[in-house]
Amino acid sequence: MARQCCTIVFPAALVLLLLGSADAQLEVGFYRKSCPNAEAIVRAEISRVMTVAPTLGGPLLRFFFHDCFVRGCDASILLNATDSSNPAEKDAIPNSFLRGYKVIDTIKANLEKACPSTVSCADVLALIARDVVSLAKGPYWEVPTGRRDGRVSIMSEALNMLPGFTANISSLKSQFAAQGLSVKDLVVLSGAHTLGNAHCFTVTNRIYNFSGRGDNTDTDPALDKRYVPKLRGKCSPLPADAIKLIEMDPGSFLSFDNSYFTLVSKRRGLFESDAVLLDDSETRAYVLRQANAPPTEFFEDFGVSMVNMGNIGVLTGSQGEIRKQCALRN
Ligand code: HEM
Repeated sequence: MARQCCTIVFPAALVLLLLGSADAQLEVGFYRKSCPNAEAIVRAEISRVMTVAPTLGGPLLRFFFHDCFVRGCDASILLNATDSSNPAEKDAIPNSFLRGYKVIDTIKANLEKACPSTVSCADVLALIARDVVSLAKGPYWEVPTGRRDGRVSIMSEALNMLPGFTANISSLKSQFAAQGLSVKDLVVLSGAHTLGNAHCFTVTNRIYNFSGRGDNTDTDPALDKRYVPKLRGKCSPLPADAIKLIEMDPGSFLSFDNSYFTLVSKRRGLFESDAVLLDDSETRAYVLRQANAPPTEFFEDFGVSMVNMGNIGVLTGSQGEIRKQCALRN
């Protein structure tokens, strides 16, 4: 009996151990000995940037999401195409408006000066995301590091893996689940839309031509009718203002707070992918709870979910490489 019991229990324990070790590959303070100033070097530059060009905070945070969702958090988003017949992730439309590549290059150059070939570009993106959020008055969390950089970057993968701004709740849930992220991670991480700007083309259909009729009443029923004139005041019909920028969280788009949830709860989230968080009981309950609460719970959850996202498909140990320049394979 006892032997039978253990042949069943032991493999299960082994599986748990293996799963545990997959998570444990990253480590807080991974560069403690090899590059003790690594995190301080990143933070110093992000502090400077957030003072002189605070609107770069949004795209710099978004880089981490767009990196992790395509081939894992391996800085594949930063690689240049090898030639024009093999476009890279950065050439995909959803990535075309990312800004801040120079900031990343400056940080990487400073790191190379201090500790050559030691700190990965993938970790740089993870640390930048944390520093942007905390310097924008949001939460601070410890970032597990030890990621290595990938050598492959393919445009079509970015097109397939990144959720679209017209996504419905079931696609969002399944795209997050495919990355090992929960429904809670989805709603918590969407709270990043408290920071930054979007282009008018992401909302024009919702305010002018939702069902294709294009008359004055053809607006998205999921959008607060009283909010439509405000948005129309900012964005004219296509193509006039297609690439004009609007604040996603008007009034506090440079500070990380929980007002995103207040907006979504009032049916004033900018994208359809924000509005649909009211369509699922779990995401809806979270939105409504955060809408009227101090940001304590959201701040704590955000750090946890960012660490979860930062675990997606990481390369560690002898996998990949430590790039010398983030745009180029060694
Ligand atoms: C849930 C699925 C998501 C969708 C469909 C989505 C979509 C978008 C879109 C369409 C924009 C506007 C881009 C532009 O017009 O330039 C945007 C901006 C942004 N997103 Fe998301 N996003 C999602 C999740 C996330 C996550 C998980 C994060 C980070 C944790 C994030 C962070 C940001 C930030 C910071 C901006 C502002 C960028 C800037 O200021 O340039 N998003 N997102």
